[in-house]
Order: sequence, then structure tokens, then C-alpha cells
Amino acid sequence: MDKKTLRFTNSDKDLKFAAKLLKQGKTVIFPTETVYGLGADARKSETAEKIFAAKGRPSDNPLIVHIADVSMLDKLVEEIPDFAKALMDKFWPGPLTLIFKKSDIVPKTVTGGLDTVAIRIPAHKTARRLLEIAQIPIAAPSANLSGKPSPTTIQHVIDDMDGRVDGIICDEDCSVGVESAVLDISGDTPRLFRPGGVTQEEIEETIGVKVLVNTEMKEGDSPKSPGLKYKHYSPDAEVVVLSGSSEKKREYATELSREKVVGALIFEEENIYAEEIITYSLGSKKEPLAVAHNLFAAMRELDKKGVEIILAPEIPDDGIWMAVRNRLYRAAGEKIIKLESDIKKIIFVCTGNTCRSPMAEGILDNIAGEEVIVISAGIFASGEKASANSVAVMKEIGIDISNHISKQLTVSVIEESDIVITMTKAHKNMLISIAEDMQNKIVTLGEWAGEDKDVADPFGGDIETYRECREQIFEMVKKGWENNR
Ligand code: TXA
Ligand code: MG
Repeated sequence: MDKKTLRFTNSDKDLKFAAKLLKQGKTVIFPTETVYGLGADARKSETAEKIFAAKGRPSDNPLIVHIADVSMLDKLVEEIPDFAKALMDKFWPGPLTLIFKKSDIVPKTVTGGLDTVAIRIPAHKTARRLLEIAQIPIAAPSANLSGKPSPTTIQHVIDDMDGRVDGIICDEDCSVGVESAVLDISGDTPRLFRPGGVTQEEIEETIGVKVLVNTEMKEGDSPKSPGLKYKHYSPDAEVVVLSGSSEKKREYATELSREKVVGALIFEEENIYAEEIITYSLGSKKEPLAVAHNLFAAMRELDKKGVEIILAPEIPDDGIWMAVRNRLYRAAGEKIIKLESDIKKIIFVCTGNTCRSPMAEGILDNIAGEEVIVISAGIFASGEKASANSVAVMKEIGIDISNHISKQLTVSVIEESDIVITMTKAHKNMLISIAEDMQNKIVTLGEWAGEDKDVADPFGGDIETYRECREQIFEMVKKGWENNR
């Protein structure tokens, strides 16, 4: 592709010219607060096709439609669910994309053949002014070549897209740095397809409803959000996430650097690598917003330095970290290398991570002390406290789980754990279906304890039901630990 690409500033005069191009069916790259977007008229199939061609993007991966204000929304969607209003009031303009049932105005080329459409109002001044002048909905994916990290600086845009689009609006670096959160509100339960600049916790607080987190998808799954199945955000270098002690990581990197040019993403406060490793700081571990802002640029910078492999740190999965972790782990193709460590990681899993698994976690943590790292997660969990009855019956045996917050189980969490202990056989089977290659380390608590019993869900039961459940878990965890430590 070799187009003449016009460069624009963010002046009103230039934006008027750029808006004119868009109205003529041309492609224009513009800044948003998340990442730069590659825009074209969202009402026309032919223009959407130009976007796919410029990016080299598979045509079943739908685009996000950007609008200037909510008055444009009615025309594009079939219905606006009641609870969506609270989200729009709170987060628009801003880094939240909402998926609605689409109207006939939106061509299926834009939605990758789906009956739903993703929409957001960006907060960036230049983007808003452009949309306001153009007065048309603009479809825009991130302005990177398909599969590459999203562009957060004008230089990234030029590196990937010069000569492939009609115009580029040159502006400052994007402040958020990771793409918008993508929330599907077209069905009964809101689903988070992509964590982003607005967090799961903020969304749930606003609507008072649990959000299903659906950010992992494997080849062959039905394409609820097609973007999930593609490898994404990858620099040219291979990316691997390292898990283990600092010492082990340092040794691993030094060893590897005998064969390859090794780069590493590090946190400002912990440069654990030897001199021969080319490091790039993501910022402080205490500032996830800054890390999100730096992430894509960091991967591109290490590429420029010619590294062949990028070692990356493990990332927490709450709040804004969830977006960082999602991008980084997907760049790594979910590849996590666990370096030998004496300390084992054990995870307990139940359905909602509010009753059984937090109790099991509390009990083993209490029995095993420093010898293991114990965590818990749920198959359908989303940032809730442990149930009041669980907290109460655990308090009776002197264990405080009142600070527990439920966590969603993900494939990468299974990968990071040495033993995955479920409450029932049904849970176990479900996990094996999403992590078949790891089935050797997935057991029920009954199996771990050498008994063939499930732990029934006390959810909704009275305090006595919880007490019995706690007793059962207590005995099983104790036995399992004694037999397996
Ligand atoms: O921050 C952002 O969202 C940036 C800026 C430019 O606005 N845009 C962006 O677009 O990241 P893109 O195309 O790179 O990512 C869109 C994501 C994809 O994962 C896609 O599969 C999903 O949103 N998506 C779009 N429409 C969808 C739909 N109707 N149903 C499910 N997923 C959808
Ligand atoms: Mg993208």
C-alpha cells in the first residue's frame, strides 16, 4: 500500500479539513485518550473495508464506533438498556466502550458480521472536536498494524501507518495508554470483554450488578467478541512472563543472554537484572496508571533496541492492573515461565469465591504459614466481599477473612499455580475443559484429602449450614496438607 498520507495538526482549520476527508469516505488517524484510532465513516461498508485493509485486520474482528455525544446514539442502536444510562452518565466521554444491539444504519462490515455494535465517546479534546465538526459516527480501531501493540505516540502511528491512510492528525502522547474497557450490555448480564481504562470495580459500583468477566477466549470458542481470539499487542520480539524469585529471574536472564539479545520490562523500584540485559522501566509498582500509560511504548522501544526476547514481570489482576495484565499476558500468548521455587502456590476454586474457597484459603494459610502461597478464585466471581456467614464462622475459629475480595479465575492463574483445588467434581471438570493441558494439577478438595467427597455450596444457608461447611473444609484441608506437604 502506498498512499499519500496528509499530516494535520490539531488546529480547528486542520480538523475541518480532516473531517471533510472523513465525510468523503477517506481514512484519518486521530488521537484519543486511550490510543490513536484509525477512523472512517461508520455508516458505510466501503469505508470500513478501507480500515481493515490499512491495518491488515481480519474482517470478522469488529470496530468501535466513536460518536461526538449521546444524541447520536439513538440512530445507531436498537435499544438502550436502563442501566446503561448510569454508565454513560458516569464514564462518557471516557475510556469505556459499550456494546448494544445495532440498528440497520450500522453495516455488518463494521460489526464483523455481528448484530451488535460497540460505541464510545472519547474524552480527548482533539477527537471530540473532530467528531463534532464531522457530525458522523466514526468507526476506529487502534491505529496499529494488526497484531502489533496499539500506538500511544504519533511516532508509533507513523512507524506503522504512514502511506496506508489518507490522513494523520498529529498530537500529543495518549494519556491512558491502554485501550478502552469493552463492556457488552446487549444481553441480560453485562460482560466485560476487555479490561481497560475504566475498571471492573468502577463499572460494578455504578450499576450495582455483577459483571461477568469474559476476557479469555481460545481458538474454536464461539466468537462473542472476536478480538479476543487473536494474538494481540505483540512486539516483534517474543514476550514471556517470568514467575519466581528475583534471584532465579536474574539467573535465567543471564543464562538466556548467552544465546539471545534479551530485553526486560522492569518496575522502577526493582531492577533485578545483570548489566547485559537491556531493561526498560514500566514505572513504579505503586502507580498502575503510569504503568498502563507506558506499556505499549515500552514494548515498541525494546523492539527498536533489537532485543529478541522480552522478559516481563507478573502483574496483579485488580483495578487498572487488570488491563495491563490482559495486554501484557496476551502479548506473551499467555506464556508464563515458572522458575523453580521452593515455595508452592496453591489455589482453591469454587463458584463465586465468596464462601467455600475463601474459607479453604483462610484455613490453609493459617495451617501452612510461610511454607506455601495460598490464594482462591471463583469460576464466576467479580470483586465481592466474602459472605457474612463465612466471615462469621471463620471468626469463630480465629481466622479473619473479612478483607477478602472475590477474584475471577483465569487460565493464567491456573498456569501460575502448582496445585488447583476445587470444591466439587463439577468445578474440576469445568476447569479441565478450559485448561486441558494442565489437568494433572487440578484436583478436588476431596481427592486432595484422600476422600471421595464434594463440598456442597452453603450459599444462602443459615449460620449452622456454614458452620458445618467450615468443619468439613477444615478437616479436608488439614488432611490434604498433612498428606501432601
Ligand atoms: O480505546 C479504544 O477502544 C481504541 C480507541 C481508538 O478508541 N480502539 C480500539 O479498537 O481499541 P480495536 O478495534 O482495536 O478494539 C476493539 C475491540 C476488539 O477486541 C473487538 O473484538 C471488540 O472491541 N468489539 C468491537 N465490537 C464488538 C462487538 N459488537 N461485539 C463484541 N466485541 C466487539
Ligand atoms: Mg486494537
